[in-house]
Amino acid sequence: MTTPRQIRIFDTTLRDGEQSPGCSMNMAEKMEIAQALVDMGVDIIEAGFPIASPGDFEAVRAIADNVSGAVICGLARSNDSDIDRAWEALQNAAQPRIHVFLATSAIHREFKLKMDKDEIIRRAIAGVSRAASYCSDIEFSPEDASRTEVDFLCRVVEAAIKAGATTVNIPDTVGYATPAHMGSVIRALRERVPNMDKAVLSVHCHNDLGLAVANSLAAVENGAGQIECTINGIGERAGNCSLEEVVMALRTRHDVYQVATGIVTQRLVPASRLVSNITGMHVQRNKAIVGRNAFAHEAGIHQDGMLKERTTYEIMRPEDVGLTKADLVLGKHSGRAALADRAKALGYHLSTEQLQTVFEQFKDLADKKKEVYDADIAALIELEMRDAPETWTIANYRLLAETGQAPTVTLTLRRGSDEFTEEVSAGDGPFDAMFRAVERITGIEVVCKDFNVHSVTVGKDALAEVTVEAEHGGDIYRGRGVSTDSVEASVQAFLNAINHVVAHLERSATHSVAPKVVGNV
Ligand code: KIV
Ligand code: ZN
Repeated sequence: MTTPRQIRIFDTTLRDGEQSPGCSMNMAEKMEIAQALVDMGVDIIEAGFPIASPGDFEAVRAIADNVSGAVICGLARSNDSDIDRAWEALQNAAQPRIHVFLATSAIHREFKLKMDKDEIIRRAIAGVSRAASYCSDIEFSPEDASRTEVDFLCRVVEAAIKAGATTVNIPDTVGYATPAHMGSVIRALRERVPNMDKAVLSVHCHNDLGLAVANSLAAVENGAGQIECTINGIGERAGNCSLEEVVMALRTRHDVYQVATGIVTQRLVPASRLVSNITGMHVQRNKAIVGRNAFAHEAGIHQDGMLKERTTYEIMRPEDVGLTKADLVLGKHSGRAALADRAKALGYHLSTEQLQTVFEQFKDLADKKKEVYDADIAALIELEMRDAPETWTIANYRLLAETGQAPTVTLTLRRGSDEFTEEVSAGDGPFDAMFRAVERITGIEVVCKDFNVHSVTVGKDALAEVTVEAEHGGDIYRGRGVSTDSVEASVQAFLNAINHVVAHLERSATHSVAPKVVGNV
């Protein structure tokens, strides 16, 4: 038996994924995701774009300094300052990679760069050579490659490899390619670039036509050795190739692709939950592999078939993607060790103090709710692990609401040992009234941009998870709240966003900080 060709999985959740609107992450969150990616067996982690902002730089540096077990990559445009900054962030990584990109298509050459073909080749060589003077692992991406003339693409790729690129990545930047098209580009490069065997050929597909996974698979069929992808397919516009989908397609249809990846597929669902919880981007129920319905069989005929023989309607086993068979895990009599065990299985690394706090919250929850599911535990852990400042907390609320009448809210908030109460009889419904009361007490007014309530699991006693996006002074602040009481969860989430505003204002008073997005969901 021959060993299957190994496909490298390059995860760009922390770079391209973070470019999804509303998906910005703070440093602690990025570190947590980076560790989960290592645990999952990803080969390369694109940790960020160091020159983009001081926050991006620090996050790439922190991951390079502290996360081992995968290549850590930083993105740079093909110019000296970007590349120098990327190296500054990456230099302590055990396995650093600099990823240099430069657009090559006629549209980008004419309208964005105003450069002719020779100038593009000259700049690509200069960028790759500079990066190669810092480290030996260099990736080059001709941006908008799928819309670049194939002859010119071959010239650029040959020049980049000669200058020191060890991976050449072919981006379908605007999600324009079809599988046959992407396959033919990869095949042309393999057949026509004389030094192509000196570099790994990679693919980076966007999902504007919903074809990112299909295009990546076509690239693999035609010889690509690396796939760039993100958890849950998050990314610029319609997103990137989804890691879980492409990995499970390669595994499930090994008969077709005959390749292997190093991904521990049992980590797919925990990683998906982690990224969804951190970014606030909910996974649609019918999403392949990690959606809540991905393994749910509703039709009677299907259920009957499943009972007779699982493979009648199931092409993958839920446990292979990390869905535990018995999702109902703990009850009120479960101990700390059982919780620690479950947290570990879900992919979380908790300190002793964090475990203690989560355990106390778990006991409270188990008192209110008979059945505690994995998703409940994940929600409690996420709440604890976010570095949320707790300037203001809820002490008590009273709510009177009636159809056709303005609601009345009496809210008491605590700051340190002091309590402050406001009564509000106004607003468009109880949540609006609650939020007004919070604004009056804290003295901070925000514009609520998004407000989302969703149930973590099933049943009337399910935990409600509320996410809020609030704007203050042109910045977006996120907040998250979790409770079996959806009103309390909403106030928690709103207050969490307000607490981020307070923390930001306090920080700005000492040094000038200007975040795009603060907080976490
Ligand atoms: O989509 C794209 O072209 C990119 C490059 C930077 C690789 O993200
Ligand atoms: Zn991209």
